[in-house]
Amino acid sequence: MPPIIEVEQLCKRYGDFTAVDSISFTINTGECFGLLGPNGAGKTSAIRMIYGFAPMNGGRLRVFGLDIETEWRQIRSRIGVCQQDNSLDPDLSVLQNLDIFAGYFQIPKRLARQRADELLQFFALEKKRDAKVGELSGGLARRLTLARALINDPELIILDEPTTGLDPQSRHLLWDRLQNLRARGKTFLLTTHYMEEASQLCDRLLIMDHGKILIEGTPADLIQEHIGASIIEVVGTSPELNVFLDAHNIGFESRGERLIIYNNGDHAVEQAIRTTFCSQQCTFRAATLEDVFLRLTGRELRE
Ligand SMILES: Nc1ncnc2c1ncn2[C@@H]1O[C@H](COP(=O)(O)OP(=O)(O)O)[C@@H](O)[C@H]1O
Ligand SMILES: [Mg+2]
Repeated sequence: MPPIIEVEQLCKRYGDFTAVDSISFTINTGECFGLLGPNGAGKTSAIRMIYGFAPMNGGRLRVFGLDIETEWRQIRSRIGVCQQDNSLDPDLSVLQNLDIFAGYFQIPKRLARQRADELLQFFALEKKRDAKVGELSGGLARRLTLARALINDPELIILDEPTTGLDPQSRHLLWDRLQNLRARGKTFLLTTHYMEEASQLCDRLLIMDHGKILIEGTPADLIQEHIGASIIEVVGTSPELNVFLDAHNIGFESRGERLIIYNNGDHAVEQAIRTTFCSQQCTFRAATLEDVFLRLTGRELRE
């Protein structure tokens, strides 16, 4: 079976500016693949080309083994897309929004209604069935956008920041629903800047910045490779600690008042820091994808 998505040296330019700079990756059937990166990294530009919304300025793009430039119509019917910004019609009801979308795919009316009912139930939206979309909260609108993306029963689901701006309850509900869909064999491409989300949902992911891919792999491998097993955070830095770390060849990084030490599970080091260098506050914790992300993309604020 060919990969579901094959991206080869894909480029996007806006005038002189290169937003996506020759990126390549593949996604296999049933995988959940994450595209991570700071604001402005080029995530949305990349996936808009993948779902055929924006023309590419170089490279090759195949979805379901089909060429996106020549076989777009066939691809379109097999993917579901949830764009970064809500594109629901605010004057129509929840159900009408689903109906109209089903019309774009020429889904027969009875089947469309059956799917709409199932999706409203799946996303806990039944009670809002006849509510105007303009009156929905952000969380409800997101759930409806996702429901709408599934109306054609797509094999591949592309989500651009599905949970940005949501409250924790809505976010967890969405995660749960996405896991459920994964268990049914759907393939996912999603962008997010929530590292916890990526760790929980993604089988593999890449981190990009300034249009280029920095790293790619499974969350666990990336953490092990770029950070190690564990982190020690020390508040209140001291020159003696820096000397100690240098002498033991232990990686560290200063984040303002905090020293982040990449310890890799060495108990002797942990003990030494605990007894000698913990005058204020020390935290001993497992390394996370967020540590990888910050180490690679830095702390400078973005757009
Ligand atoms: N239509 C456009 N015209 C010009 N520049 C754009 C356009 N869309 C995005 N950009 C720029 O391209 C870069 C990547 O944007 P985007 O793909 O939206 O990044 P991300 O989704 O990772 O935040 C940003 O610097 C953004 O300002
Ligand atoms: Mg974006």
